[in-house]
Amino acid sequence: MLSLKPLMISGAEVLPLIEGGKGISISTGETCGAWARAGAVGTFSAVNADALTPEKHIIPQLFTGTTRSERYKEVILQAIKGGIAQAKIAHETAQGRGRIHMNVLWEMAGTEEILHGIFSRAKELIHGITCGAGMPYKLAEIATQYGIYYYPIVSSARAFRALYKRAYHRFCALLGGVVYEDPWRAGGHNGLSHSEDAAVPEPPYPRVVALREVMRECGLGTIPIIVAGGVWWLSEWTDWIDNPEIGPIAFQFGTRSLLTQESPTADAWYKTLLSLTKGDVKTTAFSPTGFYSSAVNNAFLSELQDRSSRQVSYQETSSDTCTEPIHVGARGSIAYVSAADKAHINAWIAAGYTIPLRTPEHTLMFVTPQKALTIKSDQATCSGCLSACRFSGWCQSEQDSTRPPDPRSFCIQKTLQAVAHGGNPDAELVFAGDNAYRFAEDPYYDNGFVPSTQQLIDRLQTGF
Ligand SMILES: Cc1cc2nc3c(=O)[nH]c(=O)nc-3n(C[C@H](O)[C@H](O)[C@H](O)COP(=O)(O)O)c2cc1C
Ligand code: SF4
Repeated sequence: MLSLKPLMISGAEVLPLIEGGKGISISTGETCGAWARAGAVGTFSAVNADALTPEKHIIPQLFTGTTRSERYKEVILQAIKGGIAQAKIAHETAQGRGRIHMNVLWEMAGTEEILHGIFSRAKELIHGITCGAGMPYKLAEIATQYGIYYYPIVSSARAFRALYKRAYHRFCALLGGVVYEDPWRAGGHNGLSHSEDAAVPEPPYPRVVALREVMRECGLGTIPIIVAGGVWWLSEWTDWIDNPEIGPIAFQFGTRSLLTQESPTADAWYKTLLSLTKGDVKTTAFSPTGFYSSAVNNAFLSELQDRSSRQVSYQETSSDTCTEPIHVGARGSIAYVSAADKAHINAWIAAGYTIPLRTPEHTLMFVTPQKALTIKSDQATCSGCLSACRFSGWCQSEQDSTRPPDPRSFCIQKTLQAVAHGGNPDAELVFAGDNAYRFAEDPYYDNGFVPSTQQLIDRLQTGF
């Protein structure tokens, strides 16, 4: 048994064990409430969360507006309704124990409006908010307005310093902790900077020490750091616990918490997760958010990789290098490619990839007619769920912008909604951390065993 000392988190003493927030609808009021009821910290996702009927059936998220701007407004209203519904479930399930946190992505659509909408009606049910994916400068001010503790998610000391210097120094009282999310190991979107190489992971310890140094400079030496990314057995982290160099810490579990009896996707994802071996989770740059993200390298990701590999540069007019004409688009406008690329194109066309689509980087990407239709339809039915979307070109500040859409990306709303609500986990985007292969190696999960959240939390305290 490890000696895990309770920690003050969001105003109460709890186990230093935290459920990582997982959108869309993967960490829910039910999972969050179960983590809290076990004396730890649960986190429900308020990213397009599900609202429920009085009979507790999920209300399908359908957007009826005829323009993206109209659908964007519906997204925000539904997100507020869904966030409040999940907060209520978490509160009822927790039975007064533990702490309830809510997670949002700063770069989702209408974040500020959604936070005000949820907090103004449910602030007494929510103890803390965690927020990453972007630089959430306004998070501190909004959370403080409602008396809610806030937890920025950062992947470097530098990012925290910027948040503190620009905004958080004025709102220190409710800074509950800082989540250090390892950008090479954590599941979901991650905060790799341009100077960091997705293929060259750095060890986390010096980066967390650097974060603590910055926090000490800011007078935040006793505020917990929550370590996320690559945490599985706590017996592997004993030299981090009670270590004066890094100070008070808690551990966040995103991937391991996918398989509990309360998790809505545990049944559907069990086979996929238990079949993974080391290296089956990949970090890619396809997400329409513009962030790197870490997901199971399944048929969904393979299709995106294949799609991008059928790509050539083009010019609008012929030149010494681009001599070969290609018909592009319904109106058959002409683009010019090199002779070598024309040979590739001929091979792709022969294999059925007959439709060229323009990308914002002046390339043509070849897809099947069916795929071209799907891409165009997904772009046309965009509901504006992100503040800016690379795939559809939507940008909330410009309302229905005409930025060039990028067909190499995809509608993350569509696939994450699908996989959270019964979609095939081999055919949709399945976010997972680098250590997901450990489900198959960890004897705890032998013979189809799926723990309840209470059992998982008891197990984590044994160090395994
Ligand atoms: C399926 C999945 C979805 C996730 N979605 C989110 C999210 O919406 N917001 C967020 O801040 N983090 C998200 N994460 C990250 C987790 O909250 C957590 O920090 C991370 O998974 C920890 O690393 P681990 O995967 O090694 O346990 C997600 C992770 C997974 C596996
Ligand atoms: S196309 Fe982009 S902004 Fe539109 S719904 Fe899909 S992910 Fe959201």
